[in-house]
Order: sequence, then C-alpha cells, then structure tokens
Amino acid sequence: KSYRVAILGATGAVGTELLELLESRNFPIANLKLLASERSVGKTLKFKGENIPIEPVTEQAFENVDIVLASAGGGTSKTWAGVAVAKGAVVIDNSSAFRMHPEVPLIVPEVNPQAAASHKGIIANPNCTTILMTLAVWPLHKIKPVKRIVAATYQSASGAGAKAMEEVKTQTRDILQGKQPVAEVLPYPLAFNLFPHNSPLTDLGYCEEELKMVNETRKIFGSQEIRITATCVRVPVLRAHSEAINLEFETPFNPDEARAILSQAPGVKLVEDWQTNHFPMPIEASGQDEVLVGRIRQDISHHCGLELWLCGDQIRKGAALNAVQIAELLIEKNLLQSTTA
Ligand code: A2P
Repeated sequence: KSYRVAILGATGAVGTELLELLESRNFPIANLKLLASERSVGKTLKFKGENIPIEPVTEQAFENVDIVLASAGGGTSKTWAGVAVAKGAVVIDNSSAFRMHPEVPLIVPEVNPQAAASHKGIIANPNCTTILMTLAVWPLHKIKPVKRIVAATYQSASGAGAKAMEEVKTQTRDILQGKQPVAEVLPYPLAFNLFPHNSPLTDLGYCEEELKMVNETRKIFGSQEIRITATCVRVPVLRAHSEAINLEFETPFNPDEARAILSQAPGVKLVEDWQTNHFPMPIEASGQDEVLVGRIRQDISHHCGLELWLCGDQIRKGAALNAVQIAELLIEKNLLQSTTA
C-alpha cells in the first residue's frame, strides 16, 4: 500500500530534509504535494528525479491526502491542521502549536510509540533539543528512574530555519572581510559569538525553549515527577545541537553500566575514545540519523549523579527524521484510517 503525502513548509530547512528522507527511506508514496507560502509558488523541488511544483496552501490542497508533514511554523499549523484533519488526513506537526494539548500525542518513536494509538488526527513532533535528550536519557530511566535532569544546550542556527543558517554564513564572511555583521533573522550576530536562546522569555525567567525541554520531556516519559531544568544557548554551528546533561538517580548509576545500555539503545551511537579525547561533535553528528553520546562519567559532586554529553542533527532526528518515523509507525500499526472512522 502507498500513501498520499503533503509537506507543509516544503521549502524550509526541515521541509527539504523531509523530502530527502522520504526519498532515501523509500517511503511508500502514491502522490506527493509540496506546499509553502505564496512567495514560493512557481518554484519546483526535485523528488526521485522529478520536478514537483510548490503549491499555495488552500483548503483544497488538503483534499485526497493521507498524511500531512507540517513544518511551516506554529501559526500556519494552527490555521491549517484542523482543515487537513477534517478532510481525512493525519497531521504530523513539527511546530509547538499542539505539543502540550492533552489530546495530542507527543512522540519520539524510540521512547513512547504506544502513544500513537490514541491520536485524533494530529500528532506532535517534539522540540528538537527535547527529542535528542530523551533518546539518551530514556534507556537509563527505564533501568533506574531519573529524579532530576540539569541540561545546558549549545544549539545550532538551523533551529531558527534556513534563513538563519544563511545569515550566520553571511555574518562570518562579513567579519572576515572586516565588515560589521548584520543580524536580521536572529536578534544578534551569531558568527564568532553565542547568546542565550532567542525564544520568548517567560515570567519564570526561563525562555520558552527551556520550558519545552521541561514540559515535553515529562509528557513523553509519562512522568510529571521528574525535576528538570535547562539553560539553552544558541551557538555558531550550522545544523547539529549539543547538550551537556547531568542526571540524578535514586541510587548510584555505574558509568560502565550506562555505557553498556547506551551502546545498545535505539537511535543512539556511543562516541567515546578517552585516549584521543574524541567525543561527540556537531560536525560529526550532522547528516547522521543517530544521536551521538559520550563522556559518560560519574558526577563527582553527587554519588547518584551521572554526566554525559551528546550531539544530534537538529534538522534530521531533531525534526524531519522523527516526523517520518512517526509516519512509518502509523503505517506499521495501521493507525492512519482512524480519522475517517
Ligand atoms: P516559504 O519558503 O515560501 O517562505 P524555515 O523553518 O526554514 O524558515 O521554513 C519555513 C517553511 O514554512 C518554509 O517552507 C516557508 O515557505 C513555510 N511558510 C512560512 N510561512 C508560511 C505560510 N504563511 N503559509 C505557508 N507556508 C509558510
């Protein structure tokens, strides 16, 4: 069986990766529609050697579609997800619009695939830093519950979209030529710099990105008890995020046991060479499906603490790949027709 798929936001950083993944994973496609803003109408994108035209987003665009992979921002998802569901499609949404909605499953297929069964037409793809962290923490949490997570992130420009990636390249060129860097997409120059994450600040003093890591991880793990805190920082890296994670368990967690568990964990690749000081790096994580994990060590400040470091491709597992894996899960579990029932 093959499926009619629409990509909403096909021209963006995540949209173009979705296109690439549908092709390279040989996703069973009967028909593919590429949707973006009016600005992109007239352009085409290549899929399996064919030039597919970009179409504008209209009600009719969602007719005869089984799966919508949406990555065009929260506002666009809020406007169109309901329309797509009413027309019989299942929407896998990469924006934050529906993630915390009690009736919307929030899924990392390696962690909580069972949540897909209860969907009512919309499934949310979690925040990128959250996806990457859950892949490394869940296999340990299953063995011994984590009490508290303290995370610090080093997030690439890709999280702010294709235009932000271009802006960092331009700023880098400008600085090397002695010119003043211009920041239009991101709030400050990112080249040769870093700054606390640019998502809106909340009354708690945390930015929204930090609270996503807290709330989404609890929802995915199905545990409101885990205490989580995070500091999110934007760094001048193009497309892979890094995270320093401190975990506190009820009882001590032997680092060698953690290493053995993570070396077998789905979606995780252990990268640890203590002789050469070779650990996960964003340039090595870029373009890879797996989250690279390493520097697993006992926390010397707490006998039940464990430290680890990870890098993962923000556009791939942090967004597009996770969404395609959710679509594959829906097919495998026969969960696509429930919206039309
Ligand atoms: P476009 O390229 O036509 O602006 P990114 O996250 O890399 O910035 O990409 C955002 C994606 O969302 C792009 O494909 C963009 O299309 C699309 N998009 C943004 N706003 C809208 C909108 N109002 N309607 C449809 N697509 C949109």
